[in-house]
Amino acid sequence: MSSMLSPSLMCADLLNLQSDIETLDKSGVEYIHLDFMDGAFVPNITLDATLIKRVKDVLVNMKRDIHIMAFNPEKYFDSMDIGTGDIVSVHYEACNNLLDVIDDIKSRGASAFIAISPDTPADVLSSLVDKIDGVLVMTVYPGFAGQPLAQGSMEKIAEVRKMIDNSKKDLILEVDGHVSWDLCKEMVMNGANLLVAGTSSVFSGENTLEESVKRMKGLIS
Ligand code: DX5
Ligand code: ZN
Repeated sequence: MSSMLSPSLMCADLLNLQSDIETLDKSGVEYIHLDFMDGAFVPNITLDATLIKRVKDVLVNMKRDIHIMAFNPEKYFDSMDIGTGDIVSVHYEACNNLLDVIDDIKSRGASAFIAISPDTPADVLSSLVDKIDGVLVMTVYPGFAGQPLAQGSMEKIAEVRKMIDNSKKDLILEVDGHVSWDLCKEMVMNGANLLVAGTSSVFSGENTLEESVKRMKGLIS
């Protein structure tokens, strides 16, 4: 499976979100990354559930890649209108009944991903690989854009890739955080096939959004 791109909307021009979404939607990008934070699991608040729901109304080509950094994420599924085609990543560290949450996501026709923060070891996934559709490896500490790569990220990507390959399941390995121009290729080499692009690449401001997407796709394909 070739590598896919998921630009992170919280890094877009917050005063012109619809035009950035429409630009990305026309640029051949597979997903749009929508970060939701509750201010408790992470000390920040970003896009709210209503906005994440409304994004659906303007998408033609892209699908939603929803990253919920919140305790009891199932509380927000209705208000986000979770449904077919969505990726929903919930944090291993934030769920009381992880298996029920996974079942809830799947019952809505969406793909269930487990997100693990940098300090959470990859082997917590070993009993879950058969129940999920993908893994979101956080390569920064969740909560803020613009952070440096977390220590050991490349090794962790490779370790999760090995777990996925041994499971013989076709899971997506998504990486999120400091996916920069000069590190994105190495992330793919280590096994990532869905990359969340934020302030260190697509939204770095060095080029237009279209040019940045083209540059990123050239680097990861
Ligand atoms: C952080 C979010 C990321 C973030 C990525 O908690 O999950 O999606 O926006 O931004 P950069 O690429 O700047 O790390
Ligand atoms: Zn994210």
